[in-house]
Amino acid sequence: MSTIQFTIDGKPCTGKSGQTIVEAAKDNGIYIPTLCHFEGLKPAGSCRICTVKVGGRFMAACTTPVTEGMVIENKTSELEDYRKAIIEMLFVEGNHMCPTCEKSGNCELQALGYRYMMFVPRFPYLFPKRELDASLPKIIIERNRCVQCLRCVRSMTTSDGKKIFGMVNRGGHIHINVDRELAKNMSDEQAQKAMDLCPVGSILKKEVGFVVPIGKRKYDAMPIGSEIEKA
Ligand code: FES
Repeated sequence: MSTIQFTIDGKPCTGKSGQTIVEAAKDNGIYIPTLCHFEGLKPAGSCRICTVKVGGRFMAACTTPVTEGMVIENKTSELEDYRKAIIEMLFVEGNHMCPTCEKSGNCELQALGYRYMMFVPRFPYLFPKRELDASLPKIIIERNRCVQCLRCVRSMTTSDGKKIFGMVNRGGHIHINVDRELAKNMSDEQAQKAMDLCPVGSILKKEVGFVVPIGKRKYDAMPIGSEIEKA
């Protein structure tokens, strides 16, 4: 792998060929917010929270490889406001009741809401009607909280490669679905993995709700992104 020189917000950085902008930025102690991205999974580029500007063009930093001499804008007021707007859209597009959600304190969307100091979204709430499915043995699917990141779809497969989760419908009617037969055979480990992969509280492992007390949850002590910025 050859070494690449580039800049982010004027800071000289080095990366390796084949790295995405998000990965290379992280290695240089620069946080680019992400939501659909998950280390180890093929990038989907679906949420656009990682949008940066390269040569004046908007690019998804999780799918764009870093190249020699790239001049990347990341923390400009324009980009930060776009990201905040996406976060606000995600909040109004679903039904996110953080105080009663089991994932509160461990939720990436909530943590991003705090990072971007979201108070009142600039968009009207849509209050969609979505179903909660608690009929499976190991997991609860709470569609009101799904942000369509596709992490579960991309990662949760059976040993013979069948997808356990999928998306159905389009546009405003799109929602997460599950192969009920495959989901019935999920192990405890698979259920835990699905819950941990979900950035919000849309997939929950049954019988472990609220096990981590307030104060000990992931984002109680360390706001999202700070572990990269302080490294
Ligand atoms: Fe890059 Fe979602 S994190 S598009």
